[in-house]
Amino acid sequence: MRTQRAAFLGIMAAALLICCRGKDAVPAVAPAEISETKYVALTFDDGPRACTTGRLLDGLRERGASATFFLIGQQIAGNEELVCRMKDEGHQVGNHTWDHVKLQGISPAVVSEEISRTDNAIRDILGDGTYWVRPPYGLLNKNQYCCFSTPLVHWSVDPEDWKLKNTQKVTAAVLKKVQPGDIILLHDAYQTSVDAALQIVDTLEAEGYEFVTVKELLALYGVTPQAGKFYTDTREKAG
Ligand code: NI
Repeated sequence: MRTQRAAFLGIMAAALLICCRGKDAVPAVAPAEISETKYVALTFDDGPRACTTGRLLDGLRERGASATFFLIGQQIAGNEELVCRMKDEGHQVGNHTWDHVKLQGISPAVVSEEISRTDNAIRDILGDGTYWVRPPYGLLNKNQYCCFSTPLVHWSVDPEDWKLKNTQKVTAAVLKKVQPGDIILLHDAYQTSVDAALQIVDTLEAEGYEFVTVKELLALYGVTPQAGKFYTDTREKAG
């Protein structure tokens, strides 16, 4: 009884406080139904692409969603405007090698060339910055991690959009698996993936998710990014 009465008095006190603050004031007690925001990161590999990336950027802007783009260096020439838009519209830009070579097991000199050439192409457009790396296919040997001066980005949700090339199947595969703190892998090289991405944003935003860059996602979950370390999601499963 005592606890019930205490709870009742507490509610009354809160109600009184709200009334006294006037109708325009912010309620002193947050409504119970507003739950914590859930954050997730969409990532797009293998762009920029003249046919698809612009439409994706339009759709993300309309929805207030941020994403991360891992660019192939040799795709950049001719698509500079898209790269500028990525940065200007709040997205994170990263490096996906010069010509999408599998870095796993290859010499440090070749790794360095693939990364620095793309890094320079991004810097020529966007200026100084730290352009995080996603190795093609997510593959690297552990003894290669130390070659990198930026964080490395993996993923925790992979609908294999490049294989399915089907908007509904890609959307369903992501929605079935996604949890707060995940990093979702898609490719802005396909119209079906662009459509899926926008459907995923619409569905998850309605469920209280917010789409942020990988860098923002790690910060929001209290993860401090380190050079030469792979990040799969905010649960830090990868080493
Ligand atoms: Ni790729």
